[in-house]
Amino acid sequence: MMNTLRLQFRFLVPLVLTLVAAAYLALPLLDSVTLRWFSRDLTLRGALVTNTLSDSLAAALQEGGDLRLQGLFIRAVQDERLVAVGLCKLNGELLQRSAAYPMDLGCAHARELFAEVVPKLPLAGGMVHVGVHPVMVEGSHQADLVLLHDLSFVERRSQDTQKYLIAFMAALGVIIALITVVVAQLSWRGWVSGARALLRGEGLVTPLLNQRELAPLAADFRERLRDLEDAYRRSLDREDHWDPERLRALLRSQLRGDELIVVSNREPYIHEKGDGGVVCKRPASGLVTAVEPVMRACSGTWIAHGSGGADRQVVDRQDRVMVPPGSDEYTLRRIWLTPEEEQGYYYGFANEGLWPLCHVAHVRPVFRESDWEAYRRVNERFADAVVAEARSEDPVVLVQDYHFALLPALIRKRLPRATILTFWHIPWPNPESFGICPWRNELLEGLLGSTIIGFHTRFHCKNFMETVDRNLEARIEVEHSTITSNKQTTLVESYPISIAWPDEAERAAWPSVADCRSAVRSRLGLPADHKLAVGVDRFDYTKGILERIHAVERMLEKHPDWVGRFSLLQVAAPSRSELDEYKLFQQRIRQVTERVNTRFGRPGCLAVYLLAEHHEHAAVNELYRAADVCVVTSLHDGMNLVCKEFIAARDDEQGVLLLSRFAGAAAELTEALIVNPYHVEESADALLKAITMPAPEQRERMGNLRITVRDYNVFRWAGRMLADAARWRLRERIEARMQRPSHD
Ligand code: G6P
Repeated sequence: MMNTLRLQFRFLVPLVLTLVAAAYLALPLLDSVTLRWFSRDLTLRGALVTNTLSDSLAAALQEGGDLRLQGLFIRAVQDERLVAVGLCKLNGELLQRSAAYPMDLGCAHARELFAEVVPKLPLAGGMVHVGVHPVMVEGSHQADLVLLHDLSFVERRSQDTQKYLIAFMAALGVIIALITVVVAQLSWRGWVSGARALLRGEGLVTPLLNQRELAPLAADFRERLRDLEDAYRRSLDREDHWDPERLRALLRSQLRGDELIVVSNREPYIHEKGDGGVVCKRPASGLVTAVEPVMRACSGTWIAHGSGGADRQVVDRQDRVMVPPGSDEYTLRRIWLTPEEEQGYYYGFANEGLWPLCHVAHVRPVFRESDWEAYRRVNERFADAVVAEARSEDPVVLVQDYHFALLPALIRKRLPRATILTFWHIPWPNPESFGICPWRNELLEGLLGSTIIGFHTRFHCKNFMETVDRNLEARIEVEHSTITSNKQTTLVESYPISIAWPDEAERAAWPSVADCRSAVRSRLGLPADHKLAVGVDRFDYTKGILERIHAVERMLEKHPDWVGRFSLLQVAAPSRSELDEYKLFQQRIRQVTERVNTRFGRPGCLAVYLLAEHHEHAAVNELYRAADVCVVTSLHDGMNLVCKEFIAARDDEQGVLLLSRFAGAAAELTEALIVNPYHVEESADALLKAITMPAPEQRERMGNLRITVRDYNVFRWAGRMLADAARWRLRERIEARMQRPSHD
């Protein structure tokens, strides 16, 4: 407000000054115009005086009486304006003059002056007007009367006029200034609130624009405003822009092109036996979604469990295969696990113990001694593989997730100079919850072999540091976010993970949103305007699939007009199906789906479509583009990348994201509709809001979400971690040099 006022005054002061200056400049013009007017008046006046005197003059001339003429002149100059009078014969001889008549003003000169626009003459320090008027007697021109009128009154009047004009202009300037300020204030406020209303899509600026005929115009206007705003946002400098090239450059410059080794349980490509031979699949895993583009950018070796039925068929003698198939950008080294190892390490300790331990999803963790043994053994086997794959003594090793809590310390023992970056993709619980794990100290000590431990959020970092504090003898420096234990210092940092933002070429290959909408709806036998929410998850109890179906049920209960006009399409990729907890969960979801469909399904239209099968990325992308809403209702999630994939897929800037506040992504994606999935009423209302949200609001929210995901992409995630690692390596090198004994 103050700024606006200041701005307006900055404009108005020059306005007032300009008006006054203009008045000054106009004064000479004004003077000359008024002088001409007065001169014309005096000429008329002179003619009148001459007419009045004509008879007396004619008589005096006939009589030849100079005295009579003198008397006549003396009476005439008693008029205060008339200074002098002279009488000229037609031959130019000055016959008679009054006392003040200048000696040097002959008749010819007087006539010359009279021919000018303003006939004037300096006389006795002032100016006089010269008038030459014929004296007519009975129609005959007898002589000319020269009248000299005082002009000083013109000057006096002109000075008065100047004063009034300047005062008037200054007053006018001030009045204009005040009116402008008031009008600008009023119309600015009105304009701003009108524009805001427009942008919200709530209403139009004036009742006039509310008229139906103007609605298309207003919509167009709104559209243009948005386009401009978007263009502006996109044009903003992206100083912190991260892409594969920048990540590669960072590796080259800061890590001297050192070899990158990734270790994870889940492999990025799974080879299975298909009908027509071996088929290659991408698993449903947030970890793989995020880390794979980083590996493609940086090359190196990815060590993972070879879990596919045809995995052995495609590897070389060292169990390596180049991936992605066809473009061979990095090496996948497969580790084979026995069924017992897989059972104990993967299903048992990792997924029945650590997974429920770290997720607050109210499933009780199970800890078995035999699982723990298998977990330790498998971690050692992966450590062997890292050492075998390392080409130098100080490789950069990226250890992924809760399957490998012991691995960092095992690698550190064998490769003390390695840079080990461990990323924990799932939440870290509070110390009390973690405290129930019988092997909590071993796990913490294993993790503290890392150079850096990364979590998605600060909150998880804090939980981890408190857990270490509660369980180990370690020096914790909260200010620097470091933990020192067994002479090893570990940085604990948050690095919110993300996805690779699709590039031009990738986007160009996508079918249009309209095609995706009609393809998906026609596959389900639904009409074109049917509202569709999609959920894309692993079939996991942490994902809030049950809560989401309950929300759909409640929404349809509260708003029966949507029955038959809205459906949820839930993709649930089977996951960890060997485990009882997962089997029971799948059963339960199927039952609830059936119940809701019995209540709210209509011929040719289900309320919930459950597709419990694996979908490849292109199919999932088609669903994202076909959807009106994407529902992510995790009960607890480290980050959740489905929501980011949905955002990346919506280059039309439409579609609504409904997101659980218990997913790490909720901290970043604030323009989503954030819900508590445990609160069925709130989720049902949010669902209704999502399917009825006006297009402009969708565009505004989605536009902002897209900027966030584009800028905070996975290359930034990896880049920040690697840059921190590079700093750390440098520091360690300097410290080592300083501790070396001097040979002087
Ligand atoms: C989560 C974990 C990943 C895991 C993924 C899929 O995202 O953080 O480590 O790969 O789930 O689970 P799965 O057991 O099938 O690998």
